[in-house]
Amino acid sequence: MESFRSMPKVELHAHLNGSIRNSTILELARDLGQKGVIDFLDVEHVIMKNDRSLVEVFKLFDLVHVITTEHSTITRITKEVIEDFASENVVYLELRTTPKKNDSIGMSKRSYMEAVIQGLRAVASFDVHFVPQTKQVASSFNSQFMENSLNGSAKKKIYVRLLLSIDRRETTIAALETVELALEMRDVGVVGVDLSGNPTVGEWDTFVPALSFARQKGLRVTLHCGEVPNRKEIQQMLDFVPERIGHACCFCEEDWRKLKALNVPVEICLTSNVMTQSVSSIDVHHFADLYRAQHPVALCTDDTGVFSTSLSQEYSLASSTFGIDKADIFDLAYKAISQAFADHKVKDEVRKIFSSAKGQVSSMDRIDP
Ligand code: IMP
Ligand code: ZN
Repeated sequence: MESFRSMPKVELHAHLNGSIRNSTILELARDLGQKGVIDFLDVEHVIMKNDRSLVEVFKLFDLVHVITTEHSTITRITKEVIEDFASENVVYLELRTTPKKNDSIGMSKRSYMEAVIQGLRAVASFDVHFVPQTKQVASSFNSQFMENSLNGSAKKKIYVRLLLSIDRRETTIAALETVELALEMRDVGVVGVDLSGNPTVGEWDTFVPALSFARQKGLRVTLHCGEVPNRKEIQQMLDFVPERIGHACCFCEEDWRKLKALNVPVEICLTSNVMTQSVSSIDVHHFADLYRAQHPVALCTDDTGVFSTSLSQEYSLASSTFGIDKADIFDLAYKAISQAFADHKVKDEVRKIFSSAKGQVSSMDRIDP
């Protein structure tokens, strides 16, 4: 496990509110319980439960969203999530989150995202690089936030890029608003959009206008695809040819053929898929086939908090389950850099970090076949 912790890693599929520390959720829930906003005893067991089905996962997300409505809380959890990934040597993180609007507490999608950006700025123990260096144009977003990215070069560096998620419960108009916001925030590290949320809710057609608009404007698109069996939607999503997809659990032969022909990279979330029972057990996970076929894949966490995992743990799990030695896991992470949505300059910087760490993974780590 230690060698997976110390190697540089690339995280391409992590949801902000799914990555909150358990201790933080409990603290916030207790606090709201004392204020009488929620009944702590009612929610404690939802937070503490370990094996969660897909349905229970979305119950927990509803609870998390009640607990994390304050802007200051969004800032705090963003800071903690970045610190957690950076501490385990994730050197490139694409963090996704659903901008939320809640008129009753004065939150707009924009103010929600401003709180996220404040969280990136608030990290003091690592050098968080999130403002693209090529973007010199001052906007209301980057003029305030440029500073941190240029400071602290002596600290361990983590490159962070953001994806704005569209929740499957949203309308076409709401989805378009999120894309507009993503476009406005390109100069603070937003590189793309994601479609996520309860896979049994919503219709693909609702989101096509927003996703097409995003693409037309140069944003990259990743989709949660095939978490539940839905032949028609899987085919429609693949026909859209997203830059990446997440999960791909409930694919049939024809879907695999299409995916492979299109060479669309897959974000693999082993623990998440097993815990939500989207895959019946780890040893039959489709990662094995995709890896053997040399299809582009990236090992990811999905929700470190909800599924009590870390990227080091996912690397270790892939290694032990599928007999992949540490040097090959290192190569897998290295290859994931090319699937990142950041620009070439950032990818080259991340590659340099990998090159200088390569010596760590010695020939001793190779397992004889
Ligand atoms: P947020 O977008 O930062 O609020 O992160 C939590 C949200 O991510 C959830 O409410 C879902 O919409 C989405 N999400 C997290 N995990 C999954 C998953 O496994 N499948 C689909 N959506 C997910
Ligand atoms: Zn996800």
